[in-house]
Amino acid sequence: MDLRNNPNIYIMDHPLIKHKISVLRNKNTGTYEFRALVNEVAMLMAYEALRDLETEDVEVETPLEKTMAPMINGKKLALVPILRAGLGMTNGILELEPNAKVGHIGLYRDPDTHEPHEYYCKLPDSIEERIVVVTDPMLATGGSAIAAVDCIKKYGGKRIKFMCLLAAPEGLKKLATAHPDIQIYVGSLERCLNENAYICPGLGDAGDRIFGTR
Ligand code: PRP
Ligand code: URA
Repeated sequence: MDLRNNPNIYIMDHPLIKHKISVLRNKNTGTYEFRALVNEVAMLMAYEALRDLETEDVEVETPLEKTMAPMINGKKLALVPILRAGLGMTNGILELEPNAKVGHIGLYRDPDTHEPHEYYCKLPDSIEERIVVVTDPMLATGGSAIAAVDCIKKYGGKRIKFMCLLAAPEGLKKLATAHPDIQIYVGSLERCLNENAYICPGLGDAGDRIFGTR
C-alpha cells in the first residue's frame, strides 16, 4: 500500500505542526510544555480534519443589513479520545468547536503481546448522525485504533476520522486496510516500530509524558 498516495490518509506538512512535533520529541521537554503542545498540534490538525464540516445558512443582522450567513452546527461533531493519551488532544479541538460532544474509549496495550484491551466505552447518543473524530497521539501497531473504530462502528458510527500525532508505517497500513472507509490524519509518518512496538524516532510513551507518570 502506498501510504502517501492513499486518498484517505492525510499526512501533515505544515511547518508549525512539524516544529511543535520536533519539540515534543525532545526528551527534555517537560510535562507542562508537552501537554500544551499536544493540544496545539491537535488544534492545528483539526483545522484540516474538519474541512468538510457542514454549514447551515442562518439569518444574521450585520450593522448594515440582514444576510444569510453559513454557521457550523457543532452538536453534530463527536470527539472520542482513546484513554488515556487521546485525552491530551481533546481540549485543543474543543477550542475550535466548543459545542462538540465528547465520548471516551478506554483501551490499554498489553506490555507483552501489545494487544489492545478495552475497559471502557461511553459514546454520545445518535452517534450514527455525527462526524466522529477519534484521537490518540500514537498509532503504533494499529491495534488500539482498529479496536476503537470497531467499537464506534458497533454502536452505529459511520462518518469516522482518526487523528494521531505520530504513526508507524506498520500501524497506518493496518488501520487503513482494516477500515478503508475512514479518513486518517497523521502529524508525522515515522520510520518504524522497534522490538517493543514503540514508534521510532517517536516521542516515547505519550500517556506518561502527558500525565507525568512513569
Ligand atoms: C498507547 C497509545 C495508543 C497505543 C498505541 O496507549 O496512546 O493508545 O499505545 O499502540 P498500538 O497502535 O500498538 O495499539 P497505552 O496502551 O500505552 O495506554 P495509555 O494511553 O493509557 O498510556
Ligand atoms: N504508545 C506510545 O505511547 N508510544 C509509542 O511509541 C508506542 C505506543
